[in-house]
Amino acid sequence: MLIRTHVGVSLDGFMATPAGLPTWDLMPTFGAGSHGYAELMEQCGAVIVGRTSFDQGFEDWLKGWPWPGKPVYVLTSRPLPETAAEMGVVASQGGPVGIVAQVRASGLEKDVQLLGGPSTVRAFLEAGALDRLGMVVLPVLLGTGIPLFATEPTAFSQEAWTASLAAPAATNPRSRLVLEHQQAFPDGAIHLVYRPESRRDR
Ligand SMILES: NC(=O)c1ccc[n+]([C@@H]2O[C@H](COP(=O)([O-])OP(=O)(O)OC[C@H]3O[C@@H](n4cnc5c(N)ncnc54)[C@H](OP(=O)(O)O)[C@@H]3O)[C@@H](O)[C@H]2O)c1
Repeated sequence: MLIRTHVGVSLDGFMATPAGLPTWDLMPTFGAGSHGYAELMEQCGAVIVGRTSFDQGFEDWLKGWPWPGKPVYVLTSRPLPETAAEMGVVASQGGPVGIVAQVRASGLEKDVQLLGGPSTVRAFLEAGALDRLGMVVLPVLLGTGIPLFATEPTAFSQEAWTASLAAPAATNPRSRLVLEHQQAFPDGAIHLVYRPESRRDR
């Protein structure tokens, strides 16, 4: 059972516009099962959704449930609406590690799609609970919006550079990724799947 993301990210690293519209929605070629999503769904037997993404999508999903027969878990610290419980949606007990334990205890053998915004994806990465970082780099530049990774720009400094030559910076093993899959689509999007080097299949 592997925890997998399949996020759509602009070429400059944004998952959503400043108004919160997912970057996927800027692609006219985006649709049901497009960009490797159908293949992902064949591999996955459950879904974990970040609470904000869940609240954003829930009303729409009620019109045609996207995951029939697959358990849906929500990473949240708050109770879910009653209608969600009626659909069999389960609230998390604890953070990323807790919710993975919950899914594992259900005996699921297939993989799990982690459908989240950046908070959820980063929380799983930081907890060492993400097995595959799958992303589709979309050929759009947003310039601003909600970034997948929060970055703090650093201006070049001659002092820092000189010091780094004397003592090379230690690398963070969690940040090393192994490329497992790559696929280019006719619309210019590129699907990349990385395994954090510290993760082993289980
Ligand atoms: N491009 C894409 O592929 C894609 C995919 C999904 C979403 N999005 C976009 O991403 C944006 C939302 O991103 P987001 O990061 O704000 O929301 P999110 O990741 O969907 O949900 C964040 C929420 O999850 C809950 N949570 C519980 N434990 C957590 C933990 N340990 N770490 C982090 N969150 C925890 C919190 O809710 P509680 O307050 O209940 O604790 C938190 O507010 C939207 O604009 C959406 O459209 C884009």
